[in-house]
Amino acid sequence: LFIDASERSGHPIPQTLFGIFFEEINHAGAGGLWAELVSNRGFEAGGSNIPSNIDPWSIIGNESSIIVSTDRSSCFEHNKVALRMEVLCTSEGTSTCPSGGVGIYNPGFWGMNIEQGKSYKVVFYVRSMEAIDISVSFTSSNGLQTHASANITASASDVSNWTKMEVLLEAKETNHNSRLQLTTSKKGVIWLDQVSAMPLDTYKGHGFRNDLFQMLADIKPQFIRFPGGCFVEGEWLRNAFRWKASVGPWEERPGHFGDVWMYWTDDGLGYFEFLQLAEDVGALPIWVFNNGVSHNDQVDTSSVLPFVQEALDGLEFARGDSSSRWGAVRAAMGHPEPYDLRYVAVGNEDCGKKNYQGNYLKFYDAIKRAYPDIQIISNCDGSSTPLDHPADLYDFHVYTSANDLFSMSNKFVHTSRQGPKAFVSEYAVTGKDAGTGSLLAALAEAGFLIGLEKNSDVVQMASYAPLFVNTNDRRWNPDAIVFNSFQAYGTPSYWVQRFFTESSGATFLNATLQTDSSTSLVASAIAWKNSDGQTYIRIKAVNFGSNSVNLQISVGGMDPNSVKLSGSTKTILTSAGVMDENSFNEPKKLFPPCRTHSNTAGKCGQGDECPTFTTFFNFI
Ligand code: AHR
Repeated sequence: LFIDASERSGHPIPQTLFGIFFEEINHAGAGGLWAELVSNRGFEAGGSNIPSNIDPWSIIGNESSIIVSTDRSSCFEHNKVALRMEVLCTSEGTSTCPSGGVGIYNPGFWGMNIEQGKSYKVVFYVRSMEAIDISVSFTSSNGLQTHASANITASASDVSNWTKMEVLLEAKETNHNSRLQLTTSKKGVIWLDQVSAMPLDTYKGHGFRNDLFQMLADIKPQFIRFPGGCFVEGEWLRNAFRWKASVGPWEERPGHFGDVWMYWTDDGLGYFEFLQLAEDVGALPIWVFNNGVSHNDQVDTSSVLPFVQEALDGLEFARGDSSSRWGAVRAAMGHPEPYDLRYVAVGNEDCGKKNYQGNYLKFYDAIKRAYPDIQIISNCDGSSTPLDHPADLYDFHVYTSANDLFSMSNKFVHTSRQGPKAFVSEYAVTGKDAGTGSLLAALAEAGFLIGLEKNSDVVQMASYAPLFVNTNDRRWNPDAIVFNSFQAYGTPSYWVQRFFTESSGATFLNATLQTDSSTSLVASAIAWKNSDGQTYIRIKAVNFGSNSVNLQISVGGMDPNSVKLSGSTKTILTSAGVMDENSFNEPKKLFPPCRTHSNTAGKCGQGDECPTFTTFFNFI
């Protein structure tokens, strides 16, 4: 491999090249990155009709001690369902309550992770005509051990109207499979609504689960595309994500049933929180909105204006100053400064559907008129033939076999250099080559990404999909980050992304590979100046073949009088079998350990994680 490291070599890689795509799929948000422990906090999973679906809430007590029902008496206008508990037993007398009382419990998303010494804020709304005495506790999954508890008492006059209760619980012990209980031994009728339990310890107090947030931050994403995917479209328009229903006080958000990935979300992770996530992780937000098209129904272009106005209002929410109508809502939520929203995508995978083009143009014109600087992303693929409509970028999605994706490292070679740029907003190896996250898939993806770097004069952005999976609800295979209530690991595909963190904004160096095994080998080199003022070169090589290859690397074009080499490191991602995967038991079975190659001044030891800025990256 000959690398020309001279000043005039190569081309600049866009600052935005590598980012992430967050979709509410596989419980990525609800029961994932969003740290809320209670699932279905408003008792209306599946909708606002009664009797409503209170799942996964369960009842403590039997028919002779408690009657639980739902009615529409809540104080929250957009989510009227409340839970009614009629307690038939008492603490003493003939109909004595079981020890610990009767009530309800919520196991969260396949168990709540409660950690010793940590505090959790529990909030709920209550109403009763009688005085109340409610025990709020985290217990073991069978309710027998109590890990934290507090009693809430109030006189009848204090709770005759809906009243917010708040209590801080500190866990006495750790349990990854805990549950939240609200119980009482006091006869009477109690209404409950909007029950939340949040760990105090979230990223900057913004509600993001720390370990999962850190895994995102480590990718150093330049952008974050959100909130889907199919999640944005819905099977039916009535179930699509609606940004307005996801902002404002959490108690007032109706939540919705995502009918593509088939689960309820309380929408605690809403439009505001996505914008905040982007800011916190240092990425530019890319908002995907519904353009009046779902999987099964669509709005005619002649009637699409309400959707257009919805998008314009969403832009005002993100960018308007706090004197604007929607900017004021954002400011009231704690972010008076506008968010740095520069990109929007009109729909997801909708090109070719009857009304897409017509609708798209309505959005395009209205947005460009109001916000000329906003970059608009079309769903139509312009990689082979130019688009027949105006756009700043076009979406390109690919899910395929390992061989196919590896061969697609040349995909954008013949793409026209004029016109809109490509946004490879979803790519992954899927099917039998991928398992639930194999080395083979990661190798092919690495080859593909090298091709994107090479063609980054026409490819402006790329992100893997999907990002997260809660192992208790795998809706899609494979995914980059696998987690449960308390653990997380990266698949090999995740680690591949980590090796491209310095590419965005770097210089792609001209490099020539002279090899007989050209079909199984791809390689590239980038150079960048680090914050320490030093210039670094990273060489990446992927051997996709089954034979080992000796690769000789020569770097030329540097002026020996001005360049002093200070050393190098080498990192190898490999395994005994190409279908090997990481797991909770072996989270780093496939993990690229760092080797000091020559005279690097102790940057890393054998087997450590490489400081990414000094990494030479090889796959063998
Ligand atoms: O990434 C999973 C799904 O794949 C996305 O929701 C959709 O855009 C694509 O079909």
